[in-house]
Amino acid sequence: MNILVLGSGGREHTFAWKIAQSEQCSNLFVAPGNSGTSKIATNVPIDINNFQAIKSFVLKEVIEMVVVGPEDPLVNGVHDFFLNDAQLQHIIVVGPTQEAAKLEGSKEYAKEFMMRHNIPTAAYESFTKDTVAQGQKFLETLQSPYVLKADGLAAGKGVLIIEDLEEAKQELANMLVDAKFGDASSKVVIEEFLDGIELSCFVLTDGKNYQILPTAKDYKRIGEGDTGLNTGGMGAISPVPFADETFLEKIENNIVKPTIEGFQKDKLNYKGFVFIGLIKVGDEPKVIEYNVRMGDPETEVVMPRLKSDLVELFATFNTQTLDTKTIQIDDRAATTVMLVSGGYPESYEKGKVISGIEAIEDAIVFHAGAKEENGNIVTSGGRVMAITSYGEDYNEALKKSYQNIEKLHFDKMYYRKDLGFDL
Ligand code: AMP
Ligand code: GLY
Repeated sequence: MNILVLGSGGREHTFAWKIAQSEQCSNLFVAPGNSGTSKIATNVPIDINNFQAIKSFVLKEVIEMVVVGPEDPLVNGVHDFFLNDAQLQHIIVVGPTQEAAKLEGSKEYAKEFMMRHNIPTAAYESFTKDTVAQGQKFLETLQSPYVLKADGLAAGKGVLIIEDLEEAKQELANMLVDAKFGDASSKVVIEEFLDGIELSCFVLTDGKNYQILPTAKDYKRIGEGDTGLNTGGMGAISPVPFADETFLEKIENNIVKPTIEGFQKDKLNYKGFVFIGLIKVGDEPKVIEYNVRMGDPETEVVMPRLKSDLVELFATFNTQTLDTKTIQIDDRAATTVMLVSGGYPESYEKGKVISGIEAIEDAIVFHAGAKEENGNIVTSGGRVMAITSYGEDYNEALKKSYQNIEKLHFDKMYYRKDLGFDL
């Protein structure tokens, strides 16, 4: 069948890499793609939020499956657009409908979902500009540090963790009254602070059945020792060494099962990946957030460990028969290290020539913010490429990623050299 992947990052290159290995895949397209996807698929210059343009392309190329990488098109209703169009409704769309995508698009919606279905998470209350004073009073009842979350999508910047009570009260007002994060902070969720180590669990669901994919841990901060500004992710490790069998069982029973059952009880049409951000508090997993897509760079370690045919798994979505498939996972660990442009996540320069890719051995290069220009691969974004390796454990895999990175170069290239330091 002909397949279209939407997106242009390392996650989408990884999807394309995995899908291209499937015997079920005839023609593979990526919109808009990057210099990595162009080597294994056809890049198409379509805006992924222009659903009419996607429709024309899908009909022209007889696409039968659309894999949505990032959250925006999902939150904007791309799946609903397909379902509501007689010419498109038979096509498999990997990613939930607009209502279900609110699990990522609205923190309050996600918290209400968790409460309704008894899914362990931090205690919370939410406030608007009419209830700022109540919000400030609520803060007084909590212990430091204070967790303030803009309700809507704020490009990963909408969560503030503040030690000082007065500062937290002020920030609450900044978010609600002064629209610090625009519309996204017209509502703010204040949460109990959870102290523990974070990990992520990835689930594939046809809306009724589910399969659990490998766990992963990403490194979000720009600086070594988890310091400095938040980024999209500087690297990832899979599996997560501290997630032993007992802990994984707790995740499945206390979180994954009630989540999938919750979709059914709430009549949410959810076919796709569920990315559950977790924190291990003592021995208990609690949910920090839901994302309605795969993580980036977590995809760059989770997909390489999936031995099963991804297209065959997606192909069960229309008949809701994912339970007839088994998932095979590679026992080896996988790690990925992200190379970024100097200055990222603040301003940085683009157009730097990347050299050394041909010298990479025993590792996979997933392109992210990289494009082809006059026969060169040049940087075109903050996160440029992810170098994924396998090993008996994460240390061995990391060593291979780092050895290979020595061969790569572009002006002002930066990466974290301390992944795994906390494990
Ligand atoms: P979120 O966007 O909800 O994933 O939050 C961003 C980051 O803030 C998370 O990855 C955590 O590191 C941190 N965080 C969010 N909620 C809490 C919480 N209740 N307690 C402690 N840390 C949190
Ligand atoms: N790496 C975190 C994310 O994709 O949201």
